[in-house]
Amino acid sequence: MRPLKKTPSATPPLFHYNELTIELHPEVYDPAEDSFWLLENIIIDPKDSILELGTGCGLIALACAHHGAQVVCTDINPYAIQLTRHNIERNRLLLKGDIEIRQGNLFSVLKNNERFTVILFNPPYLPTKKNEKINEWFDTATDGGPTGLKVTKKFLQGLHKHLEPKGCAYFIFSSLSNRSTLEHYLKNERLSAHIIASHRYNGEDLDVYRVSPTA
Ligand SMILES: C[S@@+](CC[C@H](N)C(=O)[O-])C[C@H]1O[C@@H](n2cnc3c(N)ncnc32)[C@H](O)[C@@H]1O
Repeated sequence: MRPLKKTPSATPPLFHYNELTIELHPEVYDPAEDSFWLLENIIIDPKDSILELGTGCGLIALACAHHGAQVVCTDINPYAIQLTRHNIERNRLLLKGDIEIRQGNLFSVLKNNERFTVILFNPPYLPTKKNEKINEWFDTATDGGPTGLKVTKKFLQGLHKHLEPKGCAYFIFSSLSNRSTLEHYLKNERLSAHIIASHRYNGEDLDVYRVSPTA
């Protein structure tokens, strides 16, 4: 993972991304190689309505709102919600688009008829056995179950209901999990999928998938 350049001796720890200043928290995932790889490869239009699932410290959601998009971001981790709320306030004057934050499990925080032009997710994707768990919120950010795809599968299952017909979703896939299982899930959900960026890091390929509903 690309080491994050934190501001030395800042309390709480901070880092800068373009004009944004982002605070970190020990119980919340620090943006890493996967976060930046996703952020650098998505195409955001100021007219987009964006849903970011699992926002962590809020970096990706804030970068989209900075660009002018309307953003809803979510996380299951209450510390991430508190931290992102704080980061929204800290950067409020720089944000051209609105941003709203909700706590809960994936799409459960949305109304039935809520749809977005873009949905983003850097999911927990590490294949993890029961005896490999470390601590609750660290595991929530990284634990993809035995295949690495447990949360990604649920994410793909919710897309049809919450994507605009011409919308698309972007997510991170790691070669540490199983590509043929992912392809099976994509086919089951009738999603058309393309890898738009791929990057090898420490023997692991990190792919950004762009998926959209098939007619
Ligand atoms: C790999 S981290 C990514 C954080 C941030 N988006 C980034 O890229 O730096 C995964 C995030 O998803 C959240 N998460 C995991 N399972 C979730 C679920 N079922 N519903 C909502 N958020 C979830 C975790 O709490 C964590 O913040």
